[in-house]
Amino acid sequence: MQQTDITWPVLIISAQFNAGNDEGFRLRELERELVEVHGLSVIPSMSRADAVELSRSRSDFGCIVVDWELPQERAPAGSVDERGRKPAAEAGGAPPVAAGLIENLRTRHAHVPILLLTGRSGLEGIPAETLERVDGCLWKTADTVQFLAGRVKMHLDEYVASVLPPFFGELVKYAREYKYAWHTPGHMGGAGFLRSPAGVAMFKFYGENVFRADLSISVPELGSLLDHSGVTGDAERNSARVFGADHTYYVLNGTSTANQVIWRSAVSEDDIAFVDRNCHKSLNYAMVITGALPVYMIPRRNRRGIIGPVRLEEFSPQFIRRRIRENELIPGKLKRRRVKMSALTNSTYDGLCYNVSVIKKQLEKSVHNLHFDEAWYAYARFHPIYRDHYGMAAEPLDPDHPPVYCSQSTHKLLTAFSQASMIHIKDGGRVKIDPDRFNESYMMHGSTSPQYSMIASLDVATRMMQDNGRVMLDDIIREAIDLRQKVVSIGRELREARGGNWFFGMWQPRKVRVGHKSVAFEEADTEFLAKNQSPWVLSRSNNWHGFDDIEPGFVMLDPIKLTFTTPGIDEKGRMAAEGIPASVVTDYLIGHGIVVEKTDYYSFLLLNSLGTTEAKQGTLLSALLGFKQLYDENRPLAEALPRLVAAWPERYDGLGLKDHCQAIHEYFREHDILGSMQQAFEIIPDQAMKPADAYRQVVGGNVEYVPLDAMMGRIPVVMMVPYPPGIPIMMGGEVMNSRARPVYDYLKLRQDFENEFPGHESDIHGVEREKRSGGKYFKTLCIKKS
Ligand SMILES: Cc1ncc(COP(=O)(O)O)c(C=O)c1O
Repeated sequence: MQQTDITWPVLIISAQFNAGNDEGFRLRELERELVEVHGLSVIPSMSRADAVELSRSRSDFGCIVVDWELPQERAPAGSVDERGRKPAAEAGGAPPVAAGLIENLRTRHAHVPILLLTGRSGLEGIPAETLERVDGCLWKTADTVQFLAGRVKMHLDEYVASVLPPFFGELVKYAREYKYAWHTPGHMGGAGFLRSPAGVAMFKFYGENVFRADLSISVPELGSLLDHSGVTGDAERNSARVFGADHTYYVLNGTSTANQVIWRSAVSEDDIAFVDRNCHKSLNYAMVITGALPVYMIPRRNRRGIIGPVRLEEFSPQFIRRRIRENELIPGKLKRRRVKMSALTNSTYDGLCYNVSVIKKQLEKSVHNLHFDEAWYAYARFHPIYRDHYGMAAEPLDPDHPPVYCSQSTHKLLTAFSQASMIHIKDGGRVKIDPDRFNESYMMHGSTSPQYSMIASLDVATRMMQDNGRVMLDDIIREAIDLRQKVVSIGRELREARGGNWFFGMWQPRKVRVGHKSVAFEEADTEFLAKNQSPWVLSRSNNWHGFDDIEPGFVMLDPIKLTFTTPGIDEKGRMAAEGIPASVVTDYLIGHGIVVEKTDYYSFLLLNSLGTTEAKQGTLLSALLGFKQLYDENRPLAEALPRLVAAWPERYDGLGLKDHCQAIHEYFREHDILGSMQQAFEIIPDQAMKPADAYRQVVGGNVEYVPLDAMMGRIPVVMMVPYPPGIPIMMGGEVMNSRARPVYDYLKLRQDFENEFPGHESDIHGVEREKRSGGKYFKTLCIKKS
């Protein structure tokens, strides 16, 4: 295998580098030999502390050489090692520094060759467990420098050849063979771009490799995605092993398509589906394309408006039977049928993850197929904190258990390119998935011209998790915990220093139980919080979450999903006299280059993922403190939200930031917007027809736009999904009648709010706005009046 262009430096850790003795001289010679003769780069590191820092921040070492005779170092007061432990005593009796360092390096760099540089005493005194962790020893004074450098190079080459996973390795090899292509795509390795200036600009921006790796499906060396053969099939099979599935499929059009592939493979016309009302719109579209009859699970919502888990009782066979019995759309003769597919969003948008073992047990008797939509949660398998809380969890299943499907947007929180997702399937106890049959559905949604770089990114994302998943996740979980604690501590400091002062909060436990003691969250040890699931599991007795009737041991909060809260409402839903709507804060953050994932009325969500750095966290905190200062001083709104004021000067010029927040807050309070939202989402409107039949009306042209004001009694044909919170408030085919009055009232309130506060519109999927008599009015596609 050929190497990529990346250089893989050799890290040499020794305190002797600058020494004026023979050892120092030979080390410098070794460095010169590696650089000048073998064309490698060398990073010299003089101490354990420096090496630990380097090993945390880099993953590109081709080989690591550690001097066994590293001297003891005096650790700074209060410091801890890689695993959060206090350093060993420095005086006599402490284990050699190199032994601890090697253990540390091995934990982070599972496969990088580590060579031990031994001195005159040879192997004497080196414990067996250290020898077990290294790939070889170099005798610093006995062997020639040329020999030592040759050994390093040999280990490095072997390792680098194994770094690339199967598909990516073959793609790199193919792209480097500089073949003359006579096939699609038309740019043929990039050459086509050079014929016109815009093309040249694109070629220069992306660089040649992007185009050399953009190939036609007719290249046999890379296998076939549609047949799952060759190195593409190898990559998918490797992903299946790594993610704990029996079968894995790469999907190049996101989890939106992955969901449709799963459903099309198992659900057909008039099958009953048991669906989370909090599901992504692609699942609603899956119901449209399959013709399923939906029965909904309704997630809880707390008084802040945060969407919670579905009640455990809703998964019981009795509950499901009742819902089916009550559903007027399901014909009598079908009511005894078993549910064909259940679909649950895991985790929820706010990071609530279900104990999937409990749910599987509840559903296994009443459902043929279980689907967990884990678009935001592909990492769960790689850290024990998520034990039992993800679809592919390895647990003993009942012999009767149904097949389990997971759809994961590998691109969302892992490192694949956008749109690159995976489907994982665990066979049922008796019902095994027939790959050929499943592939019919897969092919219905796949292109015959796949983008090979996307396949490579799935292959590489898999290898990254395989090699370093635990360590990477441990890092981001700890960083998220540190940030959570920091936000609380800043709030406390501000209150203590300036009495009654405010700061943003975090939606998280205020107290955690450590042994027999209850400890403030911000004072608990990061190590403890990162290692234990229990502090994150929701319970009734520690009701920081506001889901009063939560069942014990059923749901946990994901530490890396960070929900910030803004002042204005408490856990009991009581609105304070003053408040700060979250959308004002997130608009301000956007103006400062910080883009949040989701904004609710008094909370917003940020994700701590593989790409998050401490600098990013620091920038966030200083932006939040910057907002606070502008707010406290009631600085002109134009300073905080210049674009809003520039777009609506007649409405907002001259207002202060605090005045503006207060005006919106008072509007929300007066109109009880959270109560109105609560009521709207608690009901499932009457279903006049199933979603597929509503869509048939669209295709048949039997539809017209109807203004919201005239919508009572009408049947919308498309789903309406307001953001926040991003849950369908109405599905196509449901009726806007008196039962749906709370839905109408909530939409009307949103419309009035937008007219009162222009520039604060938020997206409502399925709703268009039209300008009339000075205002903006909602309209939606409904079935024509006969
Ligand atoms: C729960 C859920 N499922 C599926 C999807 C669709 O994923 P993708 O963007 O990969 O198509 C999303 C996207 O936001 C989602 O939130």
